[in-house]
Amino acid sequence: MLNILVLHGPNLNLLGQREPGVYGSATLNDINKLLEREAQALQVKVSIQQSNHEGVLVDAIHSMLGQHQGLLINAGAYTHTSVAIRDAIAAVNIPAVEVHLSNIYRREAFRHHSFIAAVAIGQISGFGSQSYRLGLQALVSYLMEN
Ligand code: DQA
Repeated sequence: MLNILVLHGPNLNLLGQREPGVYGSATLNDINKLLEREAQALQVKVSIQQSNHEGVLVDAIHSMLGQHQGLLINAGAYTHTSVAIRDAIAAVNIPAVEVHLSNIYRREAFRHHSFIAAVAIGQISGFGSQSYRLGLQALVSYLMEN
């Protein structure tokens, strides 16, 4: 069975209370439950982790080798700053889909650039918690075809 790693980056542990006008009212736990349900429907396994620390996210990506076949990642603000996370995804060479709750291109200019995008299969941005569900579907269909 395909095993997908889901990584949530910094501040996403505060979802539900964090800027609900931008990120919605769903908590991280709600999103994780939605992902578990979708994984069951797709007949894949998901392992889910959240960290506020860049190096912990890098370590989690390295740990995928031999364990996980795909990565679904919302790197939060590290999307716009982290060459290290980008390099980790390139290093393990495991297919990744980048997701964002908000549409980063409708927001401040500093959010318009993603270091992850160039090493991802694709990106889903702007659909709230559904971005994760759509991202998981896209990643699994990519893995089934390739
Ligand atoms: C985010 C967008 C980022 O710009 C921001 O720093 C986040 C969340 C999103 O899911 O919309 O923390 O990744």
